[in-house]
Amino acid sequence: MKGVILAGGLGTRLMPLTRATNKHLLPVGREPMLYHPIRQLRAAGITEILVVTSTDHMGDVVRCLGSGQDFGCELTYRVQERPGGIADALGLARGFAAGGRVCVILADNVFQYSIAPYADRFRAQQTGARVLLKLVEEPRHYGVAALDEKHVLEIQEKPEQPPSNYAVVGLYFYDSDVFTHISHLEPSGRGELEITSVNNRYIEAGLLEYDICHGEWTDAGKPNSYQQANELLFAQDNRILEWTP
Ligand code: DAU
Repeated sequence: MKGVILAGGLGTRLMPLTRATNKHLLPVGREPMLYHPIRQLRAAGITEILVVTSTDHMGDVVRCLGSGQDFGCELTYRVQERPGGIADALGLARGFAAGGRVCVILADNVFQYSIAPYADRFRAQQTGARVLLKLVEEPRHYGVAALDEKHVLEIQEKPEQPPSNYAVVGLYFYDSDVFTHISHLEPSGRGELEITSVNNRYIEAGLLEYDICHGEWTDAGKPNSYQQANELLFAQDNRILEWTP
């Protein structure tokens, strides 16, 4: 399985910090934000990784990460010309994926524990997709899952009236059909190709599984959650911890 890190977008919610540099190069704990998803993928045994980022600061991103040698992985880069949404950015990974499965991580998502157990469960899954859910207090800021005892019934993107408190975390596992699903998407009201629409297509096909995220999780994309992400990674010295039940 290959890895895809999505680090495009404008980072407007972290202005004026993002005037200085790309959101994903800002420090989180002791390291640039982008180190965390690379370390997570590496901990999950994924060594071929595509980084998708915007034209702004692309040079700085490459300068910061290099070939991947320092992380024990091989990095490839692609440019997303305009912030057309998460699914649009993922669409750029089609050639890189070369008909195989992908583990996709949003570059601003920070996890207390290793994502390796979820990757292993997806490896054991024959087909389809897998998402990760986390109980949160303010689900309105996220994709939110409507659930029964066994299945995700639907995902709503930033709903006014959330169907549950389970946010969809920015870590997704897909089989090769993901690129066909993306090619059928229409831009949402905010003009983006939504990853939530991709996941809903898998739900309609009866092919979406999920896990519940262990430990703390946050996205570092807003001032409050950026602070939380900093505190979390400082506390563990930016190491990837293994979860033990
Ligand atoms: O963090 C989890 C949430 O991430 C999910 O619950 C939502 O369903 C999902 O839509 C997303 O919501 P956000 O509003 O937090 O997404 P944001 O626009 O902040 O983008 C998150 C990352 O995705 C960003 O750090 C880089 C990447 N991205 C985003 C856009 C819009 C791209 O690579 N290209 C893009 O065009």
